Amino acid sequence: MVILAACGGRKEDQTKAVDPEFVFTYAENQAEDYPTTQGAYKFAELVEEKTGGRIVISVNAQGVLGDEKTVIEQMQFGGVDFARVSLSPLAEFVPRLNVLQMPYLYTGREHMWKVLDGEIGDDFLNSFDGSDLVALSWYDAGARNFYSSTRPITKLEDMKGMKIRVQESELMVGMMEALGATAVPMAYDKVYSALQTGIIDGAENNWPSYESTAHYEVAKYYTIDEHNRVPELQLVSQATWEKLTKEDRDIIRECAQESSRYERKLWEERERTSEEKVRAAGCQVVELPPEEKARFQEAVTSMYGKYCAEYVDVIDAIVAVGK
Ligand code: GCU
Repeated sequence: MVILAACGGRKEDQTKAVDPEFVFTYAENQAEDYPTTQGAYKFAELVEEKTGGRIVISVNAQGVLGDEKTVIEQMQFGGVDFARVSLSPLAEFVPRLNVLQMPYLYTGREHMWKVLDGEIGDDFLNSFDGSDLVALSWYDAGARNFYSSTRPITKLEDMKGMKIRVQESELMVGMMEALGATAVPMAYDKVYSALQTGIIDGAENNWPSYESTAHYEVAKYYTIDEHNRVPELQLVSQATWEKLTKEDRDIIRECAQESSRYERKLWEERERTSEEKVRAAGCQVVELPPEEKARFQEAVTSMYGKYCAEYVDVIDAIVAVGK
């Protein structure tokens, strides 16, 4: 059995009136100053405040509780209580989620948020039965772009033969294959050294991740193609959830929603500052012209038949929201 110490993150509150009834762990794989981590701290702070100190959530950032796949597995038996994870690895456990991260699905940020904040998003949050996980709220993670250490990607043909790291997700492997590259699934924290040592030629991620992980130092060619938007989720283990009263569950849901609004604001700001930082550091940024982006888009259309055949109605509904 894995016994996880409730350590890290939380500042001691000397004025706390009651001893906590619960001290829960929260896993986050980003750095301390990253928007999702700051969202987690906000969530923990709100929960502690609204339960009068009865529920304490101890945020463990920087992946110290394990990579996302491991964290999700641990949550399934209550080894980790809460987490924020990317939809890509999560969809391996809840396959329906692949729908929400299909390539070139959204017209932009606003479209994605209209979907997630609306009925479709709520349906997905409520479709975790049988996964041993409970979904709480969405976080923003922007759009993902390609980057490489070897040469700039300016056209579809440049993808051929490139070894590109992807998240541990069948869908993402499928996307690389559709684009003609070789997919190398790997946990997030392994990517920097894999780029540095040449095990991979490139990877793909949003601006804040590219900057925060310092991947830009070892892979300076960044190509804006915005191939997909992969939202993130705050989750709680079903085993943990079952220990809580209806009243506490309501408080937790409300705090998760509030922290999501907070994270989204930070996210917008960080997208800008990260882009500025990597550009100033001398990264070579290519913006794919629309006709070239259309070729990338065309190359992945068959993925809709392969991964979303059962969800054509949901895809249609998502597209309709963007019109
Ligand atoms: C984003 C996301 C992480 C994820 C990472 C990845 O940065 O926020 O949770 O691990 O992508 O590419 O693995």
